[in-house]
Amino acid sequence: MNWTHTRRLRVDPNHPEPDLIATAAHAVREGRLVAFPTETVYGLGANALDQHAIARIFVAKGRPATDPLIAHIASLDQLPDLALDIPQLAIDLGKRLWPGPLTLVLKRHPRVPANLSAGRDTVAARMPDHPVATALIQSAGTPIAAPSANLFTHPSPTTAEHVLHDLNGRIDLILDGGPTHIGVESTVLDLTGSVPTVLRPGGVPLETLRELIPTVAVAHRILSADESAASPGQLLKHYSPSAQVILFTGPVAPVLNRMRDTAQQLLAAGKAVGILTVDDERDHFADLPAHLFPLGPLSDLPAIARHLFTGLRELDSRGVSVILVRDVGHEGLGLAIWDRLFRAAEGRVIDVGA
Ligand code: TXA
Ligand code: MG
Repeated sequence: MNWTHTRRLRVDPNHPEPDLIATAAHAVREGRLVAFPTETVYGLGANALDQHAIARIFVAKGRPATDPLIAHIASLDQLPDLALDIPQLAIDLGKRLWPGPLTLVLKRHPRVPANLSAGRDTVAARMPDHPVATALIQSAGTPIAAPSANLFTHPSPTTAEHVLHDLNGRIDLILDGGPTHIGVESTVLDLTGSVPTVLRPGGVPLETLRELIPTVAVAHRILSADESAASPGQLLKHYSPSAQVILFTGPVAPVLNRMRDTAQQLLAAGKAVGILTVDDERDHFADLPAHLFPLGPLSDLPAIARHLFTGLRELDSRGVSVILVRDVGHEGLGLAIWDRLFRAAEGRVIDVGA
């Protein structure tokens, strides 16, 4: 790929400066790549109706052309530009949960370039809840395609520094609006089949969707540790730091003991060990010469979600070779946290209760 200079524009996240937004929007209209904050993670944006701009996203990220992108909109009026035969459920969900961390998979409008959707006849759409994202989409006057602004397989970026770490010199511009609020990506809900199905758990909890759609299903691959044992090769490498992640699950007390034992064994073998801890459990590891990264209190899943990808990147930057972390349950944001950790661990799950 051609290297370029990446401009960083610091923008007020709540009241973005119109001149900075205009500069970024102009770049989008010219077919350039612009990273921007959303409420979930930073996106790597390009004009969603320009197939050449879309192709550049795949190159910059090193993303396989088989993995489709989300198109971001700023108002419900833009949905018919992207999708055909929009079901009433999509409108209802949009009115209830947009702007917000929900992505809807719908039938693709023929005007939307096929490469946005990796050749599928569906399209993923979402309305982000961030003043910078909204202003950028409005000012560009076009839906904006944006995957998370990380290199393929790396953890998603929740700060401009994360984006630059991965993509400096590979994108034209970044709007730096500070850290993102939610920290895990949107929930992806497929409305094109006979049953609405969650393809990726995310910022909108499953419980919230169930209240609105009692029959909502969850794609099989999102679930248990068993699947990794059955078909580890099927696991898409994702959200992975360079260090090996080991995920512990089961009743809390034995999990903490097993994590401690594992850390001690690895340390004895001369490895640098990182531990993503729940704040309340820090003392359990405080005497070990390991790198601890506190995620937040167990009672505060939003804080844990917000700090998760920063923790993976931070421990990586300290040069640890193994990162230990425990499951924090599957309720609310817990399911999205579990999913990200499960994939980061690439199947290395230790079920202490089993
Ligand atoms: O919160 C988010 O969703 C962030 C911010 C930037 O909006 N974006 C994001 O994009 O996470 P990305 O590309 O990293 O993840 C998009 C997910 C992938 O799992 C992809 O397979 C799925 O959405 N997806 C996109 N289009 C799809 C389609 N037509 N059918 C099924 N899944 C689709
Ligand atoms: Mg991603």
